[in-house]
Amino acid sequence: MKKAALHIDKYMPIGTVDPRIYGSFIEHLGRAVYEGIYQPGQATADEQGLRRDVIDLVKELNVPVVRYPGGNFVSGYNWEDGVGPKEKRPERLELAWQVVESNQFGLNEFMDWCHKAQTEPMMAVNLGTRGVDAARNLVEYCNVRDGGYYSSLRKSHGYADPHNIRLWCLGNEMDGPWQMGHKTAQEYGRIASEAGRVMKMVDPNIELVACGSSSLTIPTFGTWEDTVLSECYEEADYLSLHQYYGNPDNRTADFLASTVAMDQFISSVISICDAVKAKKRSKKSIHLSFDEWNVWYHSNEQDKKLERWCRAPHQLEDVYNFEDALLVAGMMITMLRHADRVKVACLAQLVNVIAPIMTSDTGAWRQTIFYPFALISKYGRGTALRTAVESPVYESVHGDAAYLESVCVHNEEDDTLTVFAVNRDLEDSMELTLDLRQFAGYRVKEHIYMTHKDVKAVNTEQDPMQVVPVSGGNSRVEDGILHAVLQDKSFHVIHLGR
Ligand code: AHR
Repeated sequence: MKKAALHIDKYMPIGTVDPRIYGSFIEHLGRAVYEGIYQPGQATADEQGLRRDVIDLVKELNVPVVRYPGGNFVSGYNWEDGVGPKEKRPERLELAWQVVESNQFGLNEFMDWCHKAQTEPMMAVNLGTRGVDAARNLVEYCNVRDGGYYSSLRKSHGYADPHNIRLWCLGNEMDGPWQMGHKTAQEYGRIASEAGRVMKMVDPNIELVACGSSSLTIPTFGTWEDTVLSECYEEADYLSLHQYYGNPDNRTADFLASTVAMDQFISSVISICDAVKAKKRSKKSIHLSFDEWNVWYHSNEQDKKLERWCRAPHQLEDVYNFEDALLVAGMMITMLRHADRVKVACLAQLVNVIAPIMTSDTGAWRQTIFYPFALISKYGRGTALRTAVESPVYESVHGDAAYLESVCVHNEEDDTLTVFAVNRDLEDSMELTLDLRQFAGYRVKEHIYMTHKDVKAVNTEQDPMQVVPVSGGNSRVEDGILHAVLQDKSFHVIHLGR
């Protein structure tokens, strides 16, 4: 058995955990909207066609913010197509995903869904095929109570009160050559600055996310962030990061070490933000919005076979296995370890499309990745503590990876401490210790864990309970020291309190 130790000091915080790091994402893509959150006539659908079974699972995930409506989709979207009487809404060829968009679901339906799912919107504007004008009109439609054509239009659509959307994305992945209206960093920085300025003229209380790189590996990474921020530092509040990982060559140890690369990605973006801050002699810091992250690769081959111009196809429907759940836990731990700068994050996506929740016409079920997300979202609120990890390491393609990946979160309000830990060792269990003498009287209130002998095990509609967390892990506090045994390939939530 390997040995590892954690060291924390309750007076050494990383930062307050912003609950918005437990956000997610709904794009008009595949069956995320149609047959996902919206399916009129489905047995659980309400009078608006919103599926109650999905809403219940979203509430269980505890998602404080949901990004909408894209993604690549937003770069060709006319938001006006999705508001007003449904019979008058146009059908469009949707170029990003090569499907037909009916526009039967749009902005106001999404806002109603947010209220029912107890979440807040994070709205993206189209800076691909459109620009400053459409963006400012959308802010007026959403956030202005009276006066002006677009706020009156909203009222005429039955929404007397403004939606008051606080968080806005200035486009999506504008660095990507696949993006409609793809731009150079200079071009994007300028339009982000101009759109952002005008949007804040309409509503000064909004917060803006500028597009960073669509992955660490895109060749423009680094210069993109530097140039974009140099142009729109005044208007932007956050810079985005996007990253997906996969295991197509079945190298699980390397796959689980992907968080080493993710950690470097976050640190590098922070450095660039702070370098631009220094160059500008600014007092303001730009925070990070990791607004697309997940595992994505299982569905790639299948998606190549899709016919163009169909509606709500099974697209990006990754079936997640146990090792994916371990990586999702590791990615969330990595973000918590940067809680001082990562203030928003969105698991991409929420329903059916690379998602923790899947639906059929008759039911909804939880994929393996649902569980680490739900557990960390529930217990990871409070202050993330600097967590020194003493652990044996292994070599991976991403660099040396500690077998133990961990972070501790102290919740002063309810006087609890939660240890999140992944044992990435595929063969060996691990004996973990943590000195708790600063937390006098704390005992293990709950030890929930996930493990499975088969890293490829999945949950399906027919067999949805293959990979689930269980309570009753092997841990105890003795003389102020926490002792826990972490099985090979396992994820743990050790919740301590008086
Ligand atoms: O989440 C799926 C897609 O991944 C999004 O539309 C895009 O932003 C990213 O490339």
